[in-house]
Amino acid sequence: MTAKVVQYTLERTYYIETFGCQMNERDSETIAGLLEDYGFSRAEGVETADVIVVNTCAVRQSAENKVWSRLGKIASLRKGGKYPVMVLAGCMAQLPQTVKRVKSRFPYVHAVVGPGHIHRIPELVHSFLEGQGKAAEHPAVAVSPQRTEMGKDKSAQILPEGLPRVKVPGLSAFVNIMFGCDNFCSYCIVPFVRGPQISREPGAVKSEVADLVRDGYREITLLGQNVNAYGLDLDGEYGFADLLSELDRIPGLLRLRYFTSHPRDFTKEMVDAIARSRAVCEHFHLPLQSGSNRILKAMNRGYTREDYLALVDYIREKLPGASLTTDIIAGFPGESGEDFQDTVDIVKSVEFDGAFTFIFSPRKGTSAARSKDQIPPAEKSERLQRLVELQSNITREKNRELLGRVVEVLLEDHAEDPKYTLKGRTRTNKVVFAGAKDAAPGDMVNVKIQETGTWYLKGQVVM
Ligand code: SAH
Ligand code: SF4
Ligand code: F3S
Repeated sequence: MTAKVVQYTLERTYYIETFGCQMNERDSETIAGLLEDYGFSRAEGVETADVIVVNTCAVRQSAENKVWSRLGKIASLRKGGKYPVMVLAGCMAQLPQTVKRVKSRFPYVHAVVGPGHIHRIPELVHSFLEGQGKAAEHPAVAVSPQRTEMGKDKSAQILPEGLPRVKVPGLSAFVNIMFGCDNFCSYCIVPFVRGPQISREPGAVKSEVADLVRDGYREITLLGQNVNAYGLDLDGEYGFADLLSELDRIPGLLRLRYFTSHPRDFTKEMVDAIARSRAVCEHFHLPLQSGSNRILKAMNRGYTREDYLALVDYIREKLPGASLTTDIIAGFPGESGEDFQDTVDIVKSVEFDGAFTFIFSPRKGTSAARSKDQIPPAEKSERLQRLVELQSNITREKNRELLGRVVEVLLEDHAEDPKYTLKGRTRTNKVVFAGAKDAAPGDMVNVKIQETGTWYLKGQVVM
């Protein structure tokens, strides 16, 4: 796809701020690529940029609040000077209330652009820079129809293949394997803001991964809201296990990760494919959400605690050294003390290596937000606190078990610590600070662990 290149008489600059998950990080690389192809160059920061794109997240109220306050802050930083063209992009753009709020409270935001429409950003920005946008609709809105009004045609939701990209320098790159989500977990806004599930063709994924490896990337993370359902919307013959097995054969690819898994769709065949593979890392991020069958049902997750535990057992049988992490929501509507205790019990019995824990945040338009049985905020916070404490003790203990052991680390960066000057991660996705005489970012090394904490391991490189 070729973008229109505009020669500006003065150099025009852009700056992108990214909130939310890895999908947004990946989309921001595309936005940067599009703007650069259009003739913009990257600014040092929001203080000087001619164009500012804020790529937003809508998953919880706290994520939205951060964006609104950041927009206010950017405007106040630029007060008195020349206002930049501002674009609110990403998941929040798809919420009907966002456009309304921009209209009434954020007059300096020029355009609201949904995740499926980011390829239109350069043209929109250009029209505002050239003054043509002034009299037009304010803000300019480029979003997909609401999901309820979308009909069968999914094509409006997805980005064209082959858009340009400014890659984040380093060893690690993201590759989308699918867009959207069809699961409609009852608490979740993602299917509404990211649209229906659409898998990319296996050939497109394979050639993108191969190109990145040829460019020097050593670790690839495959992205999708439910990677285990990859391919089910294509002809259904080719699935996630096939994709992993094929990508595993790409020479030079050292580590293959994927994000996020859904326990309902994680089959034994996929675990087997991972166990047989060379590059796929032994790290399973398996969002549990709740340990109570009653709550799991109300969440529309499609598995029971017994199913989840059976999957964990199977993973541990096939890959005894694997690490396991999870996501948990505290205070889902109707969660009784007993339901919460079920979650605590499963956290204790599985002994996760780490957990992201969240307070339930009602999202307008989801069925859980409409429930009459909302848990009082103080109770939700208290439950979250209990989970955080419990899990951090478990994480610390799990890491302590690695004392004196030798682990494989892909060095990614330099570190501040005078004794441990390099930073990397294990295959199990634990952060390691490493001391070494002659190693550098990019090297794969063995590290003997000498110190451990909740968030890190520290040790010396050994031969
Ligand atoms: N597709 C991924 C997760 C995407 S959102 C999956 O299915 O696991 C990341 C995490 O945010 C979720 O796993 C869930 O734990 C949390 N989350 C999503 N909606 C939420 C809400 N309304 N309130 C609190 N946490 C939420
Ligand atoms: Fe949200 Fe569920 Fe889809 Fe994950 S699988 S994005 S939690 S609806
Ligand atoms: Fe947030 Fe959108 Fe990701 S809502 S979590 S940025 S898919």
